[in-house]
Amino acid sequence: MRILFFGDVMGKPGRVVLKRKLPELRARLGADMVIANGENASGGVGLTTDVLREMLGFGVDVVTTGNHIWKHREMYGGLDKEARVVRPANYPAGAPGRGMTICDLPSGHRVAVLNLQGRTFMDDVDCPFHTASALLNTLPDDVRIRFIDFHAEATSEKKALGWYLDGRISAMIGTHTHVQTADPTILPEGTAYLTDAGMCGVEASCLGMDKEVIVRRFLTKLPQRFVLAKGEVSVNGVLVEVDPETGKATHIELVRE
Ligand code: FE2
Repeated sequence: MRILFFGDVMGKPGRVVLKRKLPELRARLGADMVIANGENASGGVGLTTDVLREMLGFGVDVVTTGNHIWKHREMYGGLDKEARVVRPANYPAGAPGRGMTICDLPSGHRVAVLNLQGRTFMDDVDCPFHTASALLNTLPDDVRIRFIDFHAEATSEKKALGWYLDGRISAMIGTHTHVQTADPTILPEGTAYLTDAGMCGVEASCLGMDKEVIVRRFLTKLPQRFVLAKGEVSVNGVLVEVDPETGKATHIELVRE
């Protein structure tokens, strides 16, 4: 079975390009399931219930998130109610929503989707390594297909989690840097790995934001109001093929259109 994953969807430009390209990509790549990171899908920072509904409506099966998921308070209730959205599992107990969901596909496949957040150069949340391990231990045996979006800044932390979970999950794909990395690989025990999937949004930008504003911020060190970039848009992601019997990855390839 094939999972098509897209990195951080940046605001309206990211949603529009993903919605436009998804039907053709899904058919051409033979994807059984689509997952996308939506933590920046509303205005470039955060996610709202309306935008979540929009993404689920145009063909995303599960939306993963990250550190910006807490931006819009109205989303907190939505996180509790909607099982097809996950927030990083390694927030302290009591945080709204869930860090893992099990998706029953029309094809009969059961897929666990986990979301985790890094701690290096980011907020000091609970340990993603121990959290992942504990959550995976709760999964029933028939859930062989296990996908993790690790929303993290540091390459070292992403590589380390990939090695740590090799053989216990089908895929660990990184998000958060918005820049696609050229290291898709299948680790020795059968886990597909990519340091970062990249983003869906405007190419000529700083991570999807207007580049002039970001340059000004670096030049002046003064606070700036971030504005979404305008221009040519693209989708960045990855296709992972998994043997449903074993849960091991058999193929991984970058998607950049
Ligand atoms: Fe992020």
